[in-house]
Amino acid sequence: MKGVVFTEFMEMMDSRFGPELTERVLEAAHLPSGGIYTAVGTYDHTELLALVEQLSLAVGLPATTLVREFGHYLFGRFVKSYPRFFQGVHSAFDFIEQVDNHVHVEVLKLYPGAELPSFRSERPDDRRMLFDYRSSRPLADLAEGLIAGCVDHYGERVRIERMPLAADGGGTAVRFQLTRMD
Ligand code: HEM
Repeated sequence: MKGVVFTEFMEMMDSRFGPELTERVLEAAHLPSGGIYTAVGTYDHTELLALVEQLSLAVGLPATTLVREFGHYLFGRFVKSYPRFFQGVHSAFDFIEQVDNHVHVEVLKLYPGAELPSFRSERPDDRRMLFDYRSSRPLADLAEGLIAGCVDHYGERVRIERMPLAADGGGTAVRFQLTRMD
């Protein structure tokens, strides 16, 4: 997983819980990288899960909640860092629809070697969108947070429901059903 995800996670942890707690979490996670990340480096995604696990223990919030909240935060950071992806895109559904065949394609050019999930989207009617996430990494919670961040970015009201597409239930294959509420 690209270092940019890790550096953003560290920043979120620092600003929300303070540098002392960040230090504690880093020590407790016993990371192969030592917790030193550069945006363009590549690190094992299990390091992110280890950090989340330790943060969860330290602050008493469930790991899934922390990953979702991180996704929401990360989307806001993407909006600031990559304004061009948002030019001419006026709704959350339109943006989400482009993630697989445009946004992540460009991400791969910016970060060669990025390991991206695959998404399939469908709009059964005007109000609904189905968005299927598949990955070798169990990061459906991150996807959910990014989707929620996208909805908030466009100031919309969208209900996000999810159902597993794989028997493992571990978050590697999930269907999101998004329903416009207004
Ligand atoms: C609603 C919009 C988006 C969703 C749902 C989404 C979803 C995800 C997920 C779930 C991952 C983790 C990898 C995995 O699960 O296998 C990921 C990775 C990533 N995404 Fe997105 N993404 C979105 C938008 C964006 C945007 C706007 C950018 C930046 C312009 C971006 C850049 C990246 C990068 C750099 C990675 C890391 C790749 C790696 O670790 O090798 N994504 N995305």
